[in-house]
Amino acid sequence: MASVEVREIVKQFGENAPAVDHISLTAQDGEFLVLLGPSGCGKTTLLRMIGGLEPPTSGDVVIGNHVVTHLPPRARRIAMVFQSYALYPHMSVHDNIAFPLRAQGTPKAEQEKRINWAASILGLDGLMKRKPRQLSGGQRQRVALARALVREPSVFLLDEPLSNLDAQRRASARDELQQFQRSIGTTTIYVTHDQVEAMGMGDRIAVLNLGTVRQIGTPQEIYDDPADTFVATFLGSPPMNLVERGTMLHGFRPEHFSPAAWHDAANPFERFSFVPHREEYLGAERLIYGEVGDEKVVARFPATTQLDFSIGHPVEFGVATRHMRYFDAESGVRSYETP
Ligand SMILES: Nc1ncnc2c1ncn2[C@@H]1O[C@H](COP(=O)(O)OP(=O)(O)OP(=O)(O)O)[C@@H](O)[C@H]1O
Ligand SMILES: [Mg+2]
Repeated sequence: MASVEVREIVKQFGENAPAVDHISLTAQDGEFLVLLGPSGCGKTTLLRMIGGLEPPTSGDVVIGNHVVTHLPPRARRIAMVFQSYALYPHMSVHDNIAFPLRAQGTPKAEQEKRINWAASILGLDGLMKRKPRQLSGGQRQRVALARALVREPSVFLLDEPLSNLDAQRRASARDELQQFQRSIGTTTIYVTHDQVEAMGMGDRIAVLNLGTVRQIGTPQEIYDDPADTFVATFLGSPPMNLVERGTMLHGFRPEHFSPAAWHDAANPFERFSFVPHREEYLGAERLIYGEVGDEKVVARFPATTQLDFSIGHPVEFGVATRHMRYFDAESGVRSYETP
């Protein structure tokens, strides 16, 4: 097992703005660290540099206590599963999984032991004789994971490994992968642009944008205390509401926005005149879309909540002061002063 660290790492492709721009971060030994960010923010590039598939323009990669920046991938005891994984089409599932073990000369009995272990963890037992073309996208992805697993790496680098699964399988695969990671304790860096996946799986999340880390923290820290408006609006569905007042943006989560009448005068709260426009019923909850001034805001309630206000008519709403967050309107950076 090993920690993984990048120090001031940069990747510049040609004359373009850097794909990765002086990122420093550490995945602790045994940690499940998620890299989350929009398409093109540099997640895959960062992971490829950690794995040794892409030489950094500058900066270092440290695994365990060793600087590995100039070592080839095979010298890094890392297993990778990428967005586009390649299985050998002419080999059976069994032989695909066995491939890295054969290559490293693992004794036959030990090979079979590990293959059976990985196959049972990933639910591939019944599929071992099939060829990749006889598998669904999700099954192929699990074979790629199994092939990474049998090498018993110190570090896993996973780049959207569940992206080909349908929603239902994805949820269960997420669960299995996380349980599996916890049980073997392999340091894992997991790339996704899916915030639900990031929140559910990560010990910590690093939120990236434009090749930089905007914030790194536990899912709760990132959700409750976003460092800037990018993070505030990237996480949460619907995202944090931002209402401009003077030079500040006043931010609050939809679940904290409720009729002023519900608020206890003993606990300070901030008032807003809210004009509800539209209601969305989502089974377990309802979302009320509307405006404060001319800014769009959303309120979230459990579906069973009784609400008495009518569409198009202003109603007094409030947010407990402890749930308010403030950001500089110009820079978007979080401000800890209460306006
Ligand atoms: N080989 C390359 N040559 C030139 N530019 C590249 C190369 N690889 C990536 N880039 C650019 O670097 C930036 C980051 O790309 P990267 O693939 O790391 O993004 P990503 O966060 O993984 O996005 P996605 O979520 O879409 O997979 C993008 O602007 C991309 O166009
Ligand atoms: Mg990518």
